[in-house]
Amino acid sequence: MKASRLAAAAMLATAITLPAALPSAASPSDRPEPPGLAKQDTLRWSTPKDFRIGTAVAGGGHHTSQPYPAPFFNDQQYREVLGSEFSSVSAENQMKWEFIHPERNRYRFAEMDAIVEFAQKHGQVVRGHTLLWHSQNPEWLEEGDFSDQELRTILKDHIMTVVGRYAGQIQQWDVANEIFDSEGNLRTEENIWIRELGPGIVADAFRWAHQADPEAKLFFNDYGVEANNAKSDAYYELIKDYLAKGVPVHGFAVQGHLSIRYGFPAGMEANLQRFDDLGLETAVTEIDVRMDLPNGAEPTAAQLEKQASYYQRALDACLGVEDCNSFTIWGFVDKYSWVPVFFEGQGAATVMWNDYTRKPAYYALQESLVKATPGGEHRWEHHPAYRH
Ligand code: XIL
Repeated sequence: MKASRLAAAAMLATAITLPAALPSAASPSDRPEPPGLAKQDTLRWSTPKDFRIGTAVAGGGHHTSQPYPAPFFNDQQYREVLGSEFSSVSAENQMKWEFIHPERNRYRFAEMDAIVEFAQKHGQVVRGHTLLWHSQNPEWLEEGDFSDQELRTILKDHIMTVVGRYAGQIQQWDVANEIFDSEGNLRTEENIWIRELGPGIVADAFRWAHQADPEAKLFFNDYGVEANNAKSDAYYELIKDYLAKGVPVHGFAVQGHLSIRYGFPAGMEANLQRFDDLGLETAVTEIDVRMDLPNGAEPTAAQLEKQASYYQRALDACLGVEDCNSFTIWGFVDKYSWVPVFFEGQGAATVMWNDYTRKPAYYALQESLVKATPGGEHRWEHHPAYRH
């Protein structure tokens, strides 16, 4: 989105009624009433025309060890909120190697097919995640004793099969995920592909993905790259090199797994802008903002306000950059979030309470989306399939 839009929009009254002030209370009894699902009152309805507001679709990964059944298939209220609030969806786990390719000669497409079908019914685009990563790979791959040539063929077949199956239905692909460490060095030990086949395999992955779906926008994706730092510099240099060589890379995405324990990443907009200046799309792909909740403590009002401001600043950074056109949160309801499972003593990282009522962070996002939409020029023309 353009900065000029923000300025223009700030002057306009909008048709949407926002709460007069962010709810500041933290105790459950003070929380706002559950909202209806009126389309005028959802994030996607508040979104500027060429901008997508997304979420991860809960399933697989940590969910399989939790006491609840698979959320996407079993929680009707979850599905309603998913359909009404968001205009983009990402598979939280259902396209990762260990999930979609559990045995060498077997793929598991049913869950992803269902997500794509759901997205199409609800006028949503889909982000694909991910093709080349050091994590969540199946044992048969990590422990297999393959020759270099076999491994190369395995990766190529996987990309051609998975990207090919959903060609035309996936708007953006996270082709390569987390290939650098925090110092900006390639993960030459952890990443099986880079370790066994050398760094050139990453460019090949982009070439194969492009072959399989020439329309899809192909991204690098990582955490800890919101600011200008050693890691984002490493991406900047690599992408410049790829562009010079004609490797089909189209986007750079920052995940945005943030914690209010730390400062907000400095200069996020300028960092996205330098990638935009290379001619790339940018995106925020996995944002959540966690907080310390020792011994099961409830979030305080101050924590919730700080969380809301981090979400909002990240969204504003993206809205300020011309081709930053999607902002995806990594789940929208606390009870299904990966955060408490992976970060002990931390949580409450999403924008909704467990009963789907909205936190201050939700309203902060909505406010920025509305401000970025001049003249209420929206919104529904670009969601033709939406019905409620
Ligand atoms: C997480 C999922 O949310 C969990 O369900 C799973 O158990 C582990 O992975 N960076 C990424 C995402 O690129 O794929 C990760 O998702 C979170 C960090």
